Amino acid sequence: MAHLLLPLALSFLTTVSLSLPTTTNYWRSIRPNPFKFRTEKFTHFQFYWHDVQSGSNPTSITIVRQSPVNTSRPNGFGLVNMIDDPLTERPDINSKLIGRAQGMYGLASQEEIGLLMAMNFVFTTGRYNGSTLTVLGRNPVFQKVREMPVIGGSGLFRFARGYVHASTHNLNTTTGDAVVKYGVYVLHY
Ligand SMILES: *[C@@H]1O[C@H](CO)[C@@H](O)[C@H](O)[C@H]1NC(C)=O
Ligand SMILES: *[C@@H]1O[C@H](CO)[C@@H](O)[C@H](O)[C@H]1NC(C)=O
Ligand SMILES: *[C@@H]1O[C@H](CO)[C@@H](O)[C@H](O)[C@H]1NC(C)=O
Repeated sequence: MAHLLLPLALSFLTTVSLSLPTTTNYWRSIRPNPFKFRTEKFTHFQFYWHDVQSGSNPTSITIVRQSPVNTSRPNGFGLVNMIDDPLTERPDINSKLIGRAQGMYGLASQEEIGLLMAMNFVFTTGRYNGSTLTVLGRNPVFQKVREMPVIGGSGLFRFARGYVHASTHNLNTTTGDAVVKYGVYVLHY
């Protein structure tokens, strides 16, 4: 019976496939999963972020000085800094370098000192050397603890998501130099 039905089934399939549109899709499902995901991990990191604005080698430089038409907007609204800040194991800037925070922040609030931060943590040591985490969020710097989302990552942090808690360890109001403790909580594979 089967040998009689097979040609019939094949001709049916041929008819169906011929009647399908021949254009290719711009997407495809990937099965089986080539990443061979294991169970999702939950990892905590802690390090210190150094925003050095003073001296001859600042790692944080102002690239936009407020509004060109009005330089006295409240709370520095409009100022933008580009950063390549060191991340270290301890509050001392000379302690072990873990990676760098590369990106920018801007003063995005007129009501308080409120930053919009967009930065990548680039790890340069240990297990996560070469992998990155991307943080994008609101940072009202004079609040004790600020929470910002981790919106993704690369390398070992593909598909990462999570959040950071940032708290100021030290701020020099004369120079603007700041040391901020970052507690990072990420889900990744
Ligand atoms: C600049 O902004 C400040 C604060 O918003 C305002 O009081 C002032 O009038 C503005 N100056 C000009 C020239 O528009
Ligand atoms: C991190 O990775 C880079 C590039 O692969 C390599 O040159 C460097 O030696 C690594 N550093 C550490 C501390 O493993
Ligand atoms: C701020 O930095 C200046 C210049 O480096 C230094 O003289 C001063 O002692 C610092 N202030 C504090 C409170 O650390």
